[in-house]
Amino acid sequence: MRNILVLHGPNLNLLGTREPEVYGRQTIDDINQLLVEQAASYQTKLRFLQSNHEGALIDAIHEAREWADGILINPGAFTHYSYALRDAIVGVGLPVVEVHLSNIHAREAFRHQSVLAAVCVGQISGFGVRSYLLGLQALLGYLES
Ligand code: DQA
Repeated sequence: MRNILVLHGPNLNLLGTREPEVYGRQTIDDINQLLVEQAASYQTKLRFLQSNHEGALIDAIHEAREWADGILINPGAFTHYSYALRDAIVGVGLPVVEVHLSNIHAREAFRHQSVLAAVCVGQISGFGVRSYLLGLQALLGYLES
C-alpha cells in the first residue's frame, strides 16, 4: 500500500467557478474523487490538502516525511516564485510531481517559469483534470521503478 499526499495551492478551492474557460468546470472535490478512484486500482491511499497559505503547504510537506511515499502538487501561483516551497521539497527528499490544469507555457510570460520543476521528478501541464491523473500515474510509476 502506497501513501501519497495531494496538495492543491492557492485559489484552487475556487475551481468550478474560477475562470472556467482556463481551468474547466470541475471542482476540487470532483478532482479529488477522480484521484481516489484511480488510486484504488493502484492500492494507493491519498491524503488531500488545499491551502491558500504557503506556510500551511510547507508544513504539510514536512509532515509528509512521516507517512508519505510521494507528493502530487498543483502549487498554483506559488509555482512561479516560491523558493520556500522549493526548499521544502528538497529538504524532505520525497519524490514530487508538479501538475497544472492549464498549459503554463502557453500563457502569460510570468507563468512560463516554474521554480519548483527542477526539484520535482517531473511536471505535467495543460491536460485539465487529466494532468492530475497522469501525474499520479507518473508518480506511482516512478515509485515502482
Ligand atoms: C495553475 C497555473 C498557475 O499559473 C496558476 O497560478 C494557478 C493554477 C494551473 O493549474 O494551471 O493557480 O497551477
